[in-house]
Amino acid sequence: MPRSLKVAPKYIVKVKQSLQRNGFPSQQVLADTLGIARDTVSKFLNGKPVDYLNFVEISERLGLNWQQIASKEETTPPPPSPFIPGIPTTQPRYFFGRQRELKRIFDLLKRHPLQNAAIIGKRRSGKTSLLHYLKNITTTPAAQLRPNQKSDWLPNPENYRWIFVDLQDARMQSREGLLGYILECLEMPIPNPCDLDKFMDAVSGKLQKPTVILLDEIGVGLQRCPELDDGFWESLRSLATNYTQGNLAFVLATPESPIELARHTGHSSPFFNIFGYSATLGALTEVEARELITSSPIPFPEDDIEWILTQSGRWAILLQILCRERLFTLEDGETEDNWREEALQQMQPFLGLLEA
Ligand SMILES: Nc1ncnc2c1ncn2[C@@H]1O[C@H](COP(=O)(O)OP(=O)(O)OP(=O)(O)O)[C@@H](O)[C@H]1O
Ligand SMILES: [Mg+2]
Repeated sequence: MPRSLKVAPKYIVKVKQSLQRNGFPSQQVLADTLGIARDTVSKFLNGKPVDYLNFVEISERLGLNWQQIASKEETTPPPPSPFIPGIPTTQPRYFFGRQRELKRIFDLLKRHPLQNAAIIGKRRSGKTSLLHYLKNITTTPAAQLRPNQKSDWLPNPENYRWIFVDLQDARMQSREGLLGYILECLEMPIPNPCDLDKFMDAVSGKLQKPTVILLDEIGVGLQRCPELDDGFWESLRSLATNYTQGNLAFVLATPESPIELARHTGHSSPFFNIFGYSATLGALTEVEARELITSSPIPFPEDDIEWILTQSGRWAILLQILCRERLFTLEDGETEDNWREEALQQMQPFLGLLEA
């Protein structure tokens, strides 16, 4: 059952006439009789969505068959929400901002030799979403992007190979698992056993295309995976610097700088010194945050936009939460402000982002 219903356009005249016919001199009188807001009655009479229970109650009081007058179009599922806080954004059209960081990182990746980058940011700041965006934006068809969304970051994007590695994935936590996965992505034969030496032999001198390995949650790799030791990372560094004709780069995501991270986790590998550029993720700019907010399929009132900008501190996940809550209530035809209290509650677990 849909959460809200609206009167089908062809019944609107009949519905309006039924008010007088049933002895209600005004919308207010009907609203008072039912103990609901006049605004809800007005929406009902004008074919706007109202809560399902209110719809049934008003229809019955006006002697109307609610199933007959309800717009059938309302029973189709609503379009997917653009606001999905929680899971990292993988579809580029739902990713906003980070233009400065994108420009810098793509500059490192479009020149030869490719250079390495580190993305640093607090928990929930948007690191994984940015890695996915790097991987996808240059090859996503324009029809699947927002109008005017920049995607021409690389001269020949189809030549690039992107390998996304989530080190939280148990399969990536052993040498064999991780190296086998990289070879699979490169469409290279996987030796048996797939150890470090055989991997180095397989890849050295054979990378003809620019290849970017995106390492998410690298801290987990360092803390919890004894097989991914200094020797392992040193070999990867050597591969990138000596044996791939400048065609291999790493982009890693971590809550702290790679050098700090290596120190904290008792690693000394020079691998962590090769990240010549690091981007620290903060809040979005005001323009970027507004772009995210105005991507709502139902436009938000101006004072809500201002409230969302202030409360979120323009952090992407907080914007997503507040926008989702607002959209939710607008879809239900609510115009009052009580959604704000619920939205603030939902934001609670992530307030750490707002601390300096
Ligand atoms: N640029 C962005 N545009 C739109 N939404 C974003 C953006 N960046 C992050 N988000 C939102 O913030 C949420 C958290 O992002 P993400 O999971 O990428 O952060 P993270 O830094 O990888 O978090 P964690 O430290 O928990 O791994 C996502 O679910 C997404 O809704
Ligand atoms: Mg993440």
